[in-house]
Amino acid sequence: MIHFDILTLFPEMFEGVFGTSIINRARENDYIKIELHNIRDYAPGKHRVTDDTPYGGGGGMVMKPEPIFNAVEAILAVEIPSEGYQVLQRQGYPPVVLLTPQGRLLNQPIAHEFVATFERLLLICGRYEGVDERVRQYLATDEISIGDYVLSGGEVAAMVLIDVLTRLIPGVLGDALATTKDSHSANLLEHPHYTRPAVFRGYRIPEILLSGHHAKQESWRRQQSLARTLHRRPDLLAGADLTAADRAFLDSLARDPSDSNEM
Ligand code: 6GU
Repeated sequence: MIHFDILTLFPEMFEGVFGTSIINRARENDYIKIELHNIRDYAPGKHRVTDDTPYGGGGGMVMKPEPIFNAVEAILAVEIPSEGYQVLQRQGYPPVVLLTPQGRLLNQPIAHEFVATFERLLLICGRYEGVDERVRQYLATDEISIGDYVLSGGEVAAMVLIDVLTRLIPGVLGDALATTKDSHSANLLEHPHYTRPAVFRGYRIPEILLSGHHAKQESWRRQQSLARTLHRRPDLLAGADLTAADRAFLDSLARDPSDSNEM
């Protein structure tokens, strides 16, 4: 079980995504627990102000540190020492992940590492314009980005992170899916998929898939996967687990790219 605490100014954004499909099933079956916390509830004063203009100018608004520190202290029932929250993580408190375009770029190995290491995660969704730097310095233990583009806030990134991690928890996916995600297929793109009808508007599926020849079909899927990866994401091949036959096939494509179809 992984317990996610999401700190956000927009908790409503999460309801639809987490109420649907795999994440919802994982929740119902106690593989994950998701708690939403509205940062605004931890802002002091009648107006519960959560942001303010930046010192030194520059425009936009910056999220104030106090509501975020208060929220973490209330959620974990702990006082953050002046040296920073990082001291508490070393004592076994959960990581505090700040979602920010300046963070470490999320990928599948990082996701595996999180799932293997942590049973609880606090996720702080910053707004794009910025979060007071002291949140990064004295509160966050990790900073994660989900890609080289800019979102208007960390909420969508938190949804992506939770989806990616949840799928990796043993038991969440059926066995059929789990076995296709082993080291044999890691770092390769998926082969094409087809279902009935065999001819749709005159478009035929590859003949091999109707042959009933299972060994040849398995080799076809592998070769499609290799050719696609070579064509679309050659950078992934360096981290792929390739057999001698795989390498021979890729070499044959390099010599005669025409037998890789359109990919
Ligand atoms: Cl985590 N936040 C924002 N605002 N933009 C992003 C991102 C995160 N990851 C990629 N772009």
